Amino acid sequence: MTQPPAKTIDIKTELPGPKARAVLARRDASVVRGLYRSCPIVAETARGAAVTDVDGNTFIDLNAGIGALNCGHCPDKVTDAIHKQADKLLHLCAIVGTYEPYVELCEKLNELAPIKGEKKTLLCNTGVEAGENAVKIARYATGRQAIIVFEGAFHGRSLLGMTMTSKYDLYKRGFGPFAPEVYRVPFPYEYREKPEGMNSRDYDDYAIGQFKKALVAQVDPTSVAAVIIEPVQGEGGFITASTRYLRKLRSICREHGILFVADEVQSGFCRTGKMFAIESSGVEPDMLLTAKSIASGMPIAAVTGKAEIMDAPHVGGLGSTYGGNPVACASAIASIDTMIEHDLATRALEIGKITMGYFMQWKDKHPIIGDIRCDGAMCAIEFVNDRKTKEPNKTAPARVVEEGFQRGLIMIRAGLYSSCVRTLAPLTITDDQLHEAMSALGEAIAVADGEHAKAA
Ligand SMILES: Cc1ncc(COP(=O)(O)O)c(C=O)c1O
Repeated sequence: MTQPPAKTIDIKTELPGPKARAVLARRDASVVRGLYRSCPIVAETARGAAVTDVDGNTFIDLNAGIGALNCGHCPDKVTDAIHKQADKLLHLCAIVGTYEPYVELCEKLNELAPIKGEKKTLLCNTGVEAGENAVKIARYATGRQAIIVFEGAFHGRSLLGMTMTSKYDLYKRGFGPFAPEVYRVPFPYEYREKPEGMNSRDYDDYAIGQFKKALVAQVDPTSVAAVIIEPVQGEGGFITASTRYLRKLRSICREHGILFVADEVQSGFCRTGKMFAIESSGVEPDMLLTAKSIASGMPIAAVTGKAEIMDAPHVGGLGSTYGGNPVACASAIASIDTMIEHDLATRALEIGKITMGYFMQWKDKHPIIGDIRCDGAMCAIEFVNDRKTKEPNKTAPARVVEEGFQRGLIMIRAGLYSSCVRTLAPLTITDDQLHEAMSALGEAIAVADGEHAKAA
């Protein structure tokens, strides 16, 4: 007789439990309220896709540190590398001197980046810094100032990062004035933006037409240093720009001497079934931004690009105290090796396939589901109040996250309208864990759907 699969989710107390509630009360009293928290989990330990809280309850993580944990929580090879490096050298500062892990990581990223020819890399601390540095480098290399970004984009929360980010409501309200010379164009968001009756191919051309129009109506192309695009929008709700769109955009950039920057902070490192999402389109960026899963949770990010562009700024123009810290570099090297050794790109495709199977069943059953999307293991459900009008449903995602939490899931919302729930499971999640998580998620969606129907 076959045994039923061992369960990972193990909830022993009411949620949040007593110890968690005490820490949450301390958080409320001592930590700024502007720092959003998606779930009331107070984590103590974690391994793979499982997180155990301070009350001994175990959850399945469908968020993975917002995509930072493609190798899972605390992978052995990575924690070993961190311990070894911590015993040898904690810090020096790459502006002051050199340590081998910095160089080795840059060599690895240069090798992996889907860019031909000689490449160079700059290491920094977070995704937003990677974007900021790419803008500095692009401006220096081209002698131009303007930057083009997209509706729905998320590039971080510094002044320039926030300026390049879309979505006023959550990320920008009250924080202006913003940085100058940043222009925004529509992203090819088929579900919401494709005119009725138009096919996908024509829509790509239509969206490219909108981009071309911006070069007439908004900004002189000869003053544009770079276009920065997420090949799969992350915070925007997991929307993939098609190959046709990306290729046409690339060719417009080439025509006008505009640099093409792929922001792969969330879509990178095997998440979409390739090392980097842009590879699916065959488009070669001038610069590639990476962070998050590069180092399994250690704070480090990178800009990798064509050597002649990356080497444009003067000596001393780039750098930071901690960027490319030795321990974070060791973690990144071990994380990248783990992803390759375990072929996590292939695993992402399997996870996406299983997840999409569930999404399709739920879409048939629940009218609040407007759209379902999986690019590899970057999976999202978009909720609507009405399938015909596609009016965004902002209540359901929050309810799904809450109900999912009560059933042992860690999740977060997404989308320009906060109308999506995204799943970004660690790519090391087992099939049993994934099915268990999907079963809990299905129940949570059924609750939200039932409430919506009752209120209607
Ligand atoms: C595509 C993208 N770019 C940049 C960032 C900013 O990264 P960080 O939060 O590490 O600054 C994020 C964060 O979610 C992101 O998803």
